[in-house]
Parts: sequence; C-alpha cells; structure tokens
Amino acid sequence: MAEEVFKNVQVLKGIPVDQFMETMGFISASLGMSCEDCHAAGDSSWANYALDSPRKQTARRMMLMVSTINQTNFGGRQVVTCYSCHHGSERPKVTPSLAALYGSPPEEPDDILAQAPGAPSADQILDKYLQALGGAERLANLTSFIARGTSTGYGPEGERPVEVFVKAPGQRTIIIHTLDGDSTTTFDGRAGWIAAPHRPVPVLALTGGGLDGAKLDAELSFPARVKQALGKWRVGFPTTIDDREVRVVQGTSAGGALATLYFDGESGLLVRLVRYADSPVGRMPTQIDYADYREVSGVKMPFRWKVTWLDGLETFVLSDVQPNVPIDGAKFARPAPPAR
Ligand code: HEC
Ligand code: HEC
Repeated sequence: MAEEVFKNVQVLKGIPVDQFMETMGFISASLGMSCEDCHAAGDSSWANYALDSPRKQTARRMMLMVSTINQTNFGGRQVVTCYSCHHGSERPKVTPSLAALYGSPPEEPDDILAQAPGAPSADQILDKYLQALGGAERLANLTSFIARGTSTGYGPEGERPVEVFVKAPGQRTIIIHTLDGDSTTTFDGRAGWIAAPHRPVPVLALTGGGLDGAKLDAELSFPARVKQALGKWRVGFPTTIDDREVRVVQGTSAGGALATLYFDGESGLLVRLVRYADSPVGRMPTQIDYADYREVSGVKMPFRWKVTWLDGLETFVLSDVQPNVPIDGAKFARPAPPAR
C-alpha cells in the first residue's frame, strides 16, 4: 500500500503503489503540471517528494473537496474530477470563452459509448477484423513470437533497442534497453509488473486497471480470441481517424474496465485501442495506435504502434518477427530490478 512505501501520505491511503503513481499522473495531466510543479525535487531523490509545499497542500485539500462534491451531490459516483474544473490549467476559468464558443470544438469524445441504432453488430465487425488478419485458422496457428525493433519515448535518448516476447493465450514481456538500464513490462497470464529505472519502486506490481490493461494487451497479441477478451460489446456511431472512416466498438473487461476499439472501415483492421483504468481521482486513458500491418506466417501484424498515456508516450517499431518459436517461461516471470 502507498502509505507503507511512502513517507507522507495523508489522503491517498489504502491503494497500491501503482495506483498511487497513476493518480499523480492524473492530477498532473488535469492541471497541465509536471511533477516538479508540486514536488521540489528531481527523480534522483525521491525522499524530497515527501516534503510538503503550499501547492501540494492545496492539492490534498482539493482531493477531499472533490470526493465531498461527488458524495454529497452525485451519490458517490465519480462524475466530478480535477479535470472537470481545471481542464489542463492551474486555475479553472471563470468566464466562458468567446473564441471557444465560435471556434471549432475540441475533439473530446465521451468515454462511454452509447449503442448506435442500426449499426452492424459487434460480431460482424470483429469477424471482419479476424478475416482481414488472415482468418481464424491461420490465427489459431500462431501461438508465440519473438520480435525485435526500436522504441522512442519522450526523452532526448531517441531510439532504444526493444525485445518483445509473447506466448498464447496471454503472456507478454516487452523490454526496452535504455541507456540507464532495462525497462521491462511483463504479464505472466495472471500477474504483471513494471521494472524501470528512475522509479520510486524499482519493480512495481500492477493492480486494478493497470493489470487489466496489461492483460488486454497480452491477449490482443493473439486476436483469435478478441471476442472473449472483453464482454458486453456495443457499437457506436462511425467516426474518422486521419480522415478515414472507422467503426467503433466498446467492450468491458471482467474487472469492469472499459476499452474502445476502432476498426478501419475499409480494411477492417484495428487502428486504435483506448483502454481505461479507474483511479481514486478519475478514469485514466491509454491509447494505442496501430499501423504498418505486415504478414508474418500468413497473419497480419502491426509493425508500428504508438502508446500514449497521461504521463508518457512511446512509439514501437518492429524490424524482425520470429513466429512460433519456443520461449523460456522465465521470460514472463517477475522481472529483476533494473541494473544501473
Ligand atoms: C498538483 C500537485 C501534484 C503534482 C503535479 C504531483 N503530485 Fe505527487 N503528491 C501530491 C500530493 C498532494 C501528495 C500527497 C498525497 C497524500 O497525502 O495522500 C503527493 C505525494 C507524492 C509521492 C509520495 C511521497 C512520500 O514519500 O510521501 C510521490 C512519490 C509523488 N507524489 C510523485 C509524483 C510524481 C512522480 C508526479 C508527476 C507524475 C507527481 N507526484 C505530481 C501532489 C502532486
Ligand atoms: C469544483 C472545481 C474544482 C475541482 C473539481 C478541482 N479544483 Fe483545484 N482549483 C479550483 C479553483 C477554482 C482553484 C483556484 C482557486 C484560487 O484562485 O484561489 C483551484 C486551484 C488548485 C490548485 C492551486 C493551483 C495554483 O495556482 O497553485 C491546485 C494545486 C489544485 N487546484 C489541485 C486540484 C486537484 C489535484 C484536483 C482534483 C483532485 C482539483 N484541484 C479539483 C477548482 C477546482
């Protein structure tokens, strides 16, 4: 729990460390701030994060305020969040903006999709996707792969070598070899971890929505079972991504997390996945954009994907994929702390 690992937790008690850190990401994104705007220190001394600043105190007060607003007015539903008022700025606006009123509206679709009347069924859209990938039979024959390539994040480091290990039905490990040590994300079929340099906890166990997300990523590496990966499917109105029409389908995971899948209207291929994880202060989106589908043993696979979340982005480009190779089970075990 956060309060056992960190020194000065007064409000966000009783949640695991990964959810505590995600909450920090949510708060930063909602206010358009970076960590240092509330915390005095860089990542070399996590101890300083325990020190209080006036702004940090305000943030604590605001967390309690928001929870009271939701309790007293909305039956405890989390409908007001930091973002509702702050909308990416330090101080919420007081006056409606004429520029916003008459300008083009920002792209902020609702998280929760309403079923569109007359739309094709989710089954039809998912069947077209499976067909576009090569068909159920070929997909069933792909049971593992090892891939190599590069990834590029936010920082100045540029491209770093990447290794991807995946085994059906749902084990996946991605290792980014950064200059400061390996950054490893693993899902072993039940549990998941992130081991990365410059983190307050070197090997972070995934829980809740973060774990749900890692599971979904692993399962969708073998799309033959896409229909089983989520439930309660619904189909929304078509929309566009990069001027191309896309079909929008939303499902709910066994753990209750939402995921929205966007399929190219023509090719039927998956071009975007947005999955959500709940945090104590609001719902957090992770978006994955897939591109450059190429054939590997008769099955189409995205060779490029970009992940964006509230406090980071990462673009993966594969150069080499070896299908159906044996992978040592140890590759999916809890990773070791990154060696510096
Ligand atoms: C708007 C202010 C704000 C921003 C921005 C913010 N934090 Fe925090 N942070 C807090 C508050 C408030 C607490 C104390 C929470 C509590 O008492 O429950 C905290 C506590 C922490 C702690 C625990 C420190 C300890 O030992 O007690 C860590 C670690 C932390 N934040 C990391 C981060 C990181 C990393 C970021 C950037 C992604 C970040 N914070 C951005 C307000 C902020
Ligand atoms: C109901 C609207 C509302 C919500 C929801 C809200 N805030 Fe605020 N917040 C404000 C207002 C208004 C101010 C500016 C107050 C002022 O000018 O004195 C503010 C100011 C702040 C500041 C001080 C910024 C500065 O100038 O240094 C912080 C930090 C902050 N809020 C954090 C949060 C966090 C974190 C959340 C979510 C847990 C949150 N707020 C949710 C209305 C809100």
